[in-house]
Amino acid sequence: MEKVELDFVENGPILVKKDDKTEYALCRCGHSTKKPYCSGAHAENGFKAEKSKLEIK
Ligand code: FES
Repeated sequence: MEKVELDFVENGPILVKKDDKTEYALCRCGHSTKKPYCSGAHAENGFKAEKSKLEIK
């Protein structure tokens, strides 16, 4: 069974990982120019958020 994990990057996006490989990065700052994916805009707008992880079983 594959391992799926959401990695909430400090001050950044949500990485969706399958078996420890990043599949894509989702925006959580609201400023991305390519929603729903992260465009890197979070670094320019001072987005602050804590890091955490969630494993989906
Ligand atoms: S989290 Fe990266 S652009 Fe929003």
